[in-house]
Amino acid sequence: MKTNKDIIVLTGAGQIGMAIIRRMGHGKKIFVADWKLENAKTITKIMEEAGFDVVPFEVDISSKASVLQLIAAAQKEGEISMFINAAGVSPSQAPIEQILKVDLFGTAVLLEEFGKVIKVGGAGITISSQSGHRMPALTPETDRQLATTPSEELLNLEVLKTENIKDTLHAYQMAKRCNVKRVMAEAVKWGERGARINSISPGIIITPLALDEINGPRGDFYKNMFAKSPAGRPGTADEVANVAELLLTDSGVFITGADFLIDGGATASYFYGPLQPENN
Ligand SMILES: NC(=O)c1ccc[n+]([C@@H]2O[C@H](COP(=O)([O-])OP(=O)(O)OC[C@H]3O[C@@H](n4cnc5c(N)ncnc54)[C@H](O)[C@@H]3O)[C@@H](O)[C@H]2O)c1
Repeated sequence: MKTNKDIIVLTGAGQIGMAIIRRMGHGKKIFVADWKLENAKTITKIMEEAGFDVVPFEVDISSKASVLQLIAAAQKEGEISMFINAAGVSPSQAPIEQILKVDLFGTAVLLEEFGKVIKVGGAGITISSQSGHRMPALTPETDRQLATTPSEELLNLEVLKTENIKDTLHAYQMAKRCNVKRVMAEAVKWGERGARINSISPGIIITPLALDEINGPRGDFYKNMFAKSPAGRPGTADEVANVAELLLTDSGVFITGADFLIDGGATASYFYGPLQPENN
């Protein structure tokens, strides 16, 4: 039965996603979707005990069929006025193929499909990463391909063939760069519905995903990164939610197709400060 509430859909039942829906979810019905249903149920329990109306749902964002099932279930309940994608796998969590399939292809499918159904005047965000900002510029032609190639053909692009991807970090950076480019191209289509879509590129935000990185093979690199950034510390999911709130409410009504770097200045230090590769 349809409710008279607007619907928020969150993909990725992690810390960043939860912080955002806690900020935005009052008075709405929230679908919390994750490929690990237990993650969705964990967040649902915490949120229900804090007074929110939440439905846990199983979705694999790397499957278009699964994404369409999620959209259909959400639409049965009401109009989707907000969409948040905070699902993803990090370089220490998954092989190259999976990173490309989930972080790159999955995000492209989500932006495309939610863009077709988002309520007039609605808004969305996807979580990219500072990691994409550290990678050198690609050619204008590659940027255009990443932005506009139909999602079903994306992984056939020469630049994304596994033999052209050095390692899982490179795969992750390409995925996150692609997210930002897709958001730009999708903003044009979302705008036809009076809706907006943006991305947020966080730096190191303490979550299970970041802890896997900090305790993984690149742990020293990450610890050095926040120690030598202007902020001198990692961030919290609630600080990402501060930016999300701006982007998802009327205060951000003139912002669409944009990417927001929130990394305590780590990228600035990487280019012009103590994190410059020649100093490390
Ligand atoms: N934490 C950080 O430092 C950091 C920094 C930059 C970017 N990010 C990005 O933020 C997003 C959220 O990460 P987080 O730190 O909150 O991590 P998290 O591990 O807390 O949450 C990620 C969630 O995504 C889910 N997921 C993974 N693959 C999926 C799939 N195919 N379908 C559906 N769900 C899937 C996981 O099960 C997990 O619950 C990711 O895209 C990540 O790349 C995180």
